[in-house]
Amino acid sequence: MVASEAFPFSKTGGLADVASALPKALGRLGHDVTLITPRYRGIDAGPAVDTVRIEMAGRLWEATLHEVPLGPGARVLFLDCPPLYDRPGIYNQDNRDYDDNALRFAFLSAAAVDWQSRQADPVQVIHAHDWQAGLTPIYARRLPPAATIFTVHNLAYQGVFDKAWVPPLGLSWADFTVSGFEFYDRLSFLKAGVTASAVVTTVSPTYAEEVTRPEYGYGFEGVMQAAGPRLVGILNGIDADEWNPSSDAHLPAPYDAADLSGKVLAKRALLEAYGLPVDADALARPVIGMVSRMVDQKGLDLIAALANELPFLDATFTILGTGEPRYQEMWRGLSAWRPDRIGVHVGYDERRAHLIEAGADMFMMPSRYEPCGLNQMYSLRYGTVPVVRAVGGLVDTVRPYSPANGAGTGFLFSDYTPDAFRAALTAALTMFRENRKAWARLQKNGMRKDWSWDRSAAEYVKVYKRVMASRRGTPPRGPRHQKG
Ligand code: ADP
Ligand code: GLC
Repeated sequence: MVASEAFPFSKTGGLADVASALPKALGRLGHDVTLITPRYRGIDAGPAVDTVRIEMAGRLWEATLHEVPLGPGARVLFLDCPPLYDRPGIYNQDNRDYDDNALRFAFLSAAAVDWQSRQADPVQVIHAHDWQAGLTPIYARRLPPAATIFTVHNLAYQGVFDKAWVPPLGLSWADFTVSGFEFYDRLSFLKAGVTASAVVTTVSPTYAEEVTRPEYGYGFEGVMQAAGPRLVGILNGIDADEWNPSSDAHLPAPYDAADLSGKVLAKRALLEAYGLPVDADALARPVIGMVSRMVDQKGLDLIAALANELPFLDATFTILGTGEPRYQEMWRGLSAWRPDRIGVHVGYDERRAHLIEAGADMFMMPSRYEPCGLNQMYSLRYGTVPVVRAVGGLVDTVRPYSPANGAGTGFLFSDYTPDAFRAALTAALTMFRENRKAWARLQKNGMRKDWSWDRSAAEYVKVYKRVMASRRGTPPRGPRHQKG
């Protein structure tokens, strides 16, 4: 497995959760998985177990590999190369990408491929994630026999660089056009991953369909269409140990579907953590939580369009995230305007994220697009009702509430408009106030769902077997979009 971030060592988003939870789940199924990821500043990685030497960009890079166990059958090998990774940021610093990101992440793929080629017990499948690992199948092609699969977590991040990088990264001009990592006369790592891998997966079945359309393809719709039957959607799971209300060390008290009293304590702790009032009125009022990168993808522009109305809704907001300065300012401004109703924390804070999932009554994700989304699944598990846009993985995980039979787990809206979003929020707030019985049912419906990785990991195993079979000359089989 090759990925540029892995929880709990490095994380900017859901990729990190997947990169460590999937190997663990595969390990539990009896497979043997090694994740190769950079050793960024501050990662405590133990002694070196191996060395790689690769020539790139006119110099010989030497790196050590440091092993840390993840669980039965699963381990991380940290790629330690201080000139490339020992920096204050993962991808950027002061809102500016590092100039040598092409080199930093090409090296990650090249090192992973080099390592696997030297294993006495051969690696059967290489699984690379997102543009940072996109060159993996290109480097791997020179060294059979491992087959590569590539997972797209977010098609909007395309790893596009000046084509002058082609020779320094050890790529050939023939590959540039013939294998197709040329993207509008530039080099795209994402395109390399998509075109050169045996199978391409996206992180939900609905997103696998959406990416073939201009609205969600971000210029890659043609590339994704061309992938044809090689494109498969597999829903992410969640780390059921990490996100479990009955054993979550970040909460004041455990709770489960049979006894939600601990959730009330979490609500109180959440309001306190945000310095919001904690009187009887405040405890009775619904809390709407959000944990998110503050970017357009997550619907921040839609929220901005409703900004002046939020303080007058019958709700308290607890917001956590970092992102575009204009959205950080918007939330800070709203909080200064209504400090008793709007709590905002700009920053990255694992404990607070858990407290929001547990202590909030509702969780909002009005995403413009959402390849999978993990927070709505955490919310469901914690009895926190999601209010989400019907897009991507949100469609595959949240079912609309049906007053007729009490089925469903949340509230969805389709049009990306302030009116549609307001209507969904209002419907949720109204049910919370006026029909507590239906609300409790909604919570329990969500809490009973199983989002653990075991199911999704088994889907990946099917794909691995399929690429191994095709590698041996058998034609590929299997459905185009496997439901998670
Ligand atoms: P994306 O990867 O697009 O950002 P996901 O929903 O897949 O969205 O995953 C986001 C992950 O990052 C979740 O585990 C979420 O809890 C976490 N997260 C996002 N922002 C923060 C933050 N400010 N503090 C703590 N955790 C955060
Ligand atoms: C990306 C997507 C998110 C997904 C995550 C993990 O960051 O934006 O929807 O859940 O990857 O696959």
